[in-house]
Amino acid sequence: MVSHFGDGVTGLVNLGERSENCSLSLNMAGKKVTVAGWIQDTRNLGGIAFILLRDRTGVVQVTAVKKKMGDEIFSELTGIPRESILAVSGELKANDQVAGGFEILPDEFQILSQAETPLPLGIVDKVGVELDTRLNNRFLDLRKEQVLAVFQTRDLVLKGMREYLTGNGFIEVHTPKIVAAGAEGGSTLFPIEYFEKQAYLAQSSQLYKQMLMAAGFDRIYEIAPAYRAEQSDTVRHLAEFTSLDMEMSFIESSEDVMCVLEEMVAHTFDVVINHGIDQLDCLGVTLSKQKLPFPRVSFEKCIDMLSESGIKVQGDLDTEAEKKLGELMSEKHDSKLYFITDFPTELKKETFYAMRDPDNPHLTRYFDLAYKGEELVSGGQREHRYDVLVSQMQEMGANTDEFEFYLKAFKFGMPPHGGFGLGIERVLHMMLNLPNIRECVLFPRDMYRVVP
Ligand code: 4AD
Ligand code: MG
Repeated sequence: MVSHFGDGVTGLVNLGERSENCSLSLNMAGKKVTVAGWIQDTRNLGGIAFILLRDRTGVVQVTAVKKKMGDEIFSELTGIPRESILAVSGELKANDQVAGGFEILPDEFQILSQAETPLPLGIVDKVGVELDTRLNNRFLDLRKEQVLAVFQTRDLVLKGMREYLTGNGFIEVHTPKIVAAGAEGGSTLFPIEYFEKQAYLAQSSQLYKQMLMAAGFDRIYEIAPAYRAEQSDTVRHLAEFTSLDMEMSFIESSEDVMCVLEEMVAHTFDVVINHGIDQLDCLGVTLSKQKLPFPRVSFEKCIDMLSESGIKVQGDLDTEAEKKLGELMSEKHDSKLYFITDFPTELKKETFYAMRDPDNPHLTRYFDLAYKGEELVSGGQREHRYDVLVSQMQEMGANTDEFEFYLKAFKFGMPPHGGFGLGIERVLHMMLNLPNIRECVLFPRDMYRVVP
């Protein structure tokens, strides 16, 4: 039998005669088990040694007794370098002195892969290591319990969002990531050589999800990479991030989109709170249920609030103003999450597809959703009328010929529609209170990093 330590999920162990996967537990006491994992630590006391063996489900103690094994085998076993992979067979014995309440007394072992020394990075050492060193040795860094917890939470976040959207009639789609035109302005486009043509990595699925509204798909979402040649080396910008894009038809205003968004976010928090107990505990994070509806405050009102607290804003909010606004929203509305609505047209120059307020063309039907001062989402109602869209594009200096493939979709029946783009890493960055967004990506890409 192939068994795993820890509880709950099974890992992957291949020891030849593999018949069954199950987690170790105290009720296997007295039985022979076989486990495999990474040697986290070996404590050799001379006549007895304790080897901690780890896999993604937890850690088990292997207790080696010299007298029983003989000197040679004992020193071979205890001399295996940390982070090597060891397979061990032996009796599972109850022992309330040991964390978990049991240990394994080995009869046989096999080194499946020996680690070199020294390790570029400690897995359980308490010494602080620079993020760059961690990312340069990411395969090792990812072995840490707290780092795994981030990605288990990421998995829960995605499950929560998918669950909500699927349950509300949205279908998941995939649009091209090699595109001929940018949706979010020229400054953050990555050009690529595409046979004889100029192409770009997609900044957003914006244009395609709108075309799917013309196709009658009605309610769609996509979870996929998005690329931005961001010249900003900050703790919240990535060159490659995961975007959850949603689009829905037959809306009356951006309020319809905001309602779906806030319910999805609140549901996602619930999923993490209910199913991520161990992960949140491991990361020292306390999450509370999010109350609905999230406050909605117009951009103009935000400027007034900031001005009352001594911050003058020229044009768009800078990082300092965003942070302050996060604090003010927490104080006034008792919510970390809030919508900033009615963005001025002036500030959405590159967002040619945003619908303007019919009563005031200086305002758009566009919103951001922020969490404690950090933007998580942008979205709104789109301009679905062909003529108006073309004139907005011309006014904003977009070359309409380049967008012909997109504009065509507005000529043959385009319903009123809207949607949003949400940065998955931004959500995790804020939810888990992590210092740097790069911690939410397995192998992050930024201005300086393209390996590993
Ligand atoms: O605000 P953005 O640029 O909006 C769009 O892409 C629109 N097409 C969305 C829509 O449907 N109207 O990007 C959306 C979100 C941001 O709010 C942010 O969470 C994330 O994507 N994002 C980034 N995350 C990490 N690094 C970057 N460089 C990001 N750029 C955007
Ligand atoms: Mg935005």
